[in-house]
Amino acid sequence: MSNALLRMDNLQRHYETPAGVVKALDGVSFEIHEGERVILLGPSGSGKTTLLNCLSALDSPTGGSYRFLGEEVPRNQSEKMTSFRRDNIGYVFQFFNLLQDLTVLENILLIQELAGKKDTARAKELLKLVGLQAEINRFPGEISGGQQQRVAIARSIAKRPTLLLGDELTGNLDTETSNKVMEALVSACKQENITSVFVTHDEGLVKYATRVIRIDSGKIVADQSTSADEEA
Ligand SMILES: Nc1ncnc2c1ncn2[C@@H]1O[C@H](COP(=O)(O)OP(=O)(O)O)[C@@H](O)[C@H]1O
Ligand SMILES: [Mg+2]
Repeated sequence: MSNALLRMDNLQRHYETPAGVVKALDGVSFEIHEGERVILLGPSGSGKTTLLNCLSALDSPTGGSYRFLGEEVPRNQSEKMTSFRRDNIGYVFQFFNLLQDLTVLENILLIQELAGKKDTARAKELLKLVGLQAEINRFPGEISGGQQQRVAIARSIAKRPTLLLGDELTGNLDTETSNKVMEALVSACKQENITSVFVTHDEGLVKYATRVIRIDSGKIVADQSTSADEEA
């Protein structure tokens, strides 16, 4: 087995509320290895978004340990958390968040420029990888929702993140479009050797994962490798 990319030990995220303590994460432990494609499944309110926000260092756990490439991930220090995210994390949003006044290609180029690595050839290659070579000069308003989400995927991997995260990223797409988006995502992650964790409540996405982790009431209740592992 390859090296552990990250490891959580007894991770907790408690909220103090007037009604008492909410244990959004209540002792979560797992390792994720390079190249895994994890789907995180659970009912509404089970802690999926909280876990994703801790993985990306958008949020700080209130207890336990989170190590990434062997080092404890910064918490409660916004600048260090921002640099951790910038150096390691890619994110695909449910609502795409593309800039409407820029073409498909320009949306990718902008992200590369912000990272100080403009590379038009690579931007075009990424768009080809998600099946959008014919749409590079269109504006987001001129392509479908599924195509916009594939642009967002190309954008999220443009900076070569180590770990790619998504929260209900097919939440607003029909089943056929979701499948196309997930296929584009899997081929992009394989090609770029990106490890991924995607949150969903859609059991239909399990077939795209190498591993399925189920969470309920802030605790992991199942953690299984799936058959997709065999090709890895
Ligand atoms: N800012 C907050 N303050 C208090 N409770 C919160 C807050 N954010 C989330 N929670 C609670 O934490 C639990 C997990 O929420 P969340 O991670 O959003 O679940 P999911 O994404 O699985 O629907 C829920 O009970 C939710 O109400
Ligand atoms: Mg959620």
